Amino acid sequence: MADVRFGIMGLGRGRKAAEQVANAAGAKLVCVSDLQEEKAKEYGELYSCDWTTDHKEMFARDDIDVIGVYSSSGTHCDYAMEAIAAGKHAFVTKPMDVRVEKCDAAIQAAKGAGKVLAVDFGNRYSLENRQLKAAIDQGIIGKIFLGDVKMKWWREQSYYNGGYPLGWRSRLETEGGSIANQGVHFVDLIYWLLGPVKEVYGRSATMTHDIETEDLSAAQLTFQSGAWGLITTTTSNYPNLGTQVEISGTEGTVRWNQKGGIEITTKDEDSVDLNRFEVPDAPADIAEDMVSAITKGTPPVVSGEEGKKSVEIFNAVYKSSETGQPVGLNQ
Ligand SMILES: NC(=O)c1ccc[n+]([C@@H]2O[C@H](COP(=O)([O-])OP(=O)(O)OC[C@H]3O[C@@H](n4cnc5c(N)ncnc54)[C@H](O)[C@@H]3O)[C@@H](O)[C@H]2O)c1
Repeated sequence: MADVRFGIMGLGRGRKAAEQVANAAGAKLVCVSDLQEEKAKEYGELYSCDWTTDHKEMFARDDIDVIGVYSSSGTHCDYAMEAIAAGKHAFVTKPMDVRVEKCDAAIQAAKGAGKVLAVDFGNRYSLENRQLKAAIDQGIIGKIFLGDVKMKWWREQSYYNGGYPLGWRSRLETEGGSIANQGVHFVDLIYWLLGPVKEVYGRSATMTHDIETEDLSAAQLTFQSGAWGLITTTTSNYPNLGTQVEISGTEGTVRWNQKGGIEITTKDEDSVDLNRFEVPDAPADIAEDMVSAITKGTPPVVSGEEGKKSVEIFNAVYKSSETGQPVGLNQ
């Protein structure tokens, strides 16, 4: 079968996606695009592929099947829709977008055009996380009553002033805030592990940076299962303590640490070996995922519909913070 031909736009985090495409069986990196010529040229030369500063030129090529979007967060779905309108499949980095309506529009566009739309959440591809999901689904810690995310990161003001276009990380429209941009990794993780959310109560504030967006959010969630969630995200915590996720069930606890390691302790076992939970073969990353989705018709690991869930949750936190009222979700 012919290789699936990729174009990647946005060569910040998109550099990793370009590398994943270059290394994936059945994938060919045809072109990279960045507004900054030196970046586009550097990565075009590195991967021996074409490069351009004009994404429209890349989207218009008929020798590209799929576009990966790695621009600022509030532009993901607009570019995905542009790619779909040009006849391509599309995937976007996290968050799927800053606004739920944009996610809906992209989902509809992909559906209407019969194209694959996926969201690149690194946590969903890891073997350890997939084994954890299997363990939880098999009831290893019993009935879950609480999921607790503590994301205590440090970001300098220069991080917010930088990026390209300059300062996009400091703006509501293009970044969202600490739960939308950084915390969304763990909002997605806890949604994946604990299921759909019914109600959200949240508060957010800008504590230490000169930005439009929040750098501290705290939320209390009620999942449809009846379990509660507690989510704290900040980029103001010096030093960076990373992220801890704890999940409490009637039979035990999961402790998940971003810096590595998942510990499960139950009433029966001090330390549960995750390797006894068998999981089916799965793509190692977004490049393998898209190759499989396009050539075999397998559903992507995180579809547009699935990627939208975390966007709904962080927007509910923001809305609740504005109104002081809980926000209901119909997930
Ligand atoms: N672990 C992860 O999954 C992860 C990590 C970091 C960032 N991200 C996401 O990646 C996105 C980009 O973040 P970043 O830190 O790489 O930002 P960045 O500002 O460093 O890089 C974005 C790049 O996109 C380019 N770009 C913007 N508009 C473009 C256009 N129309 N055509 C071509 N290139 C264009 C810019 O020139 C820039 O080089 C954000 O949505 C962020 O949330 C994901």
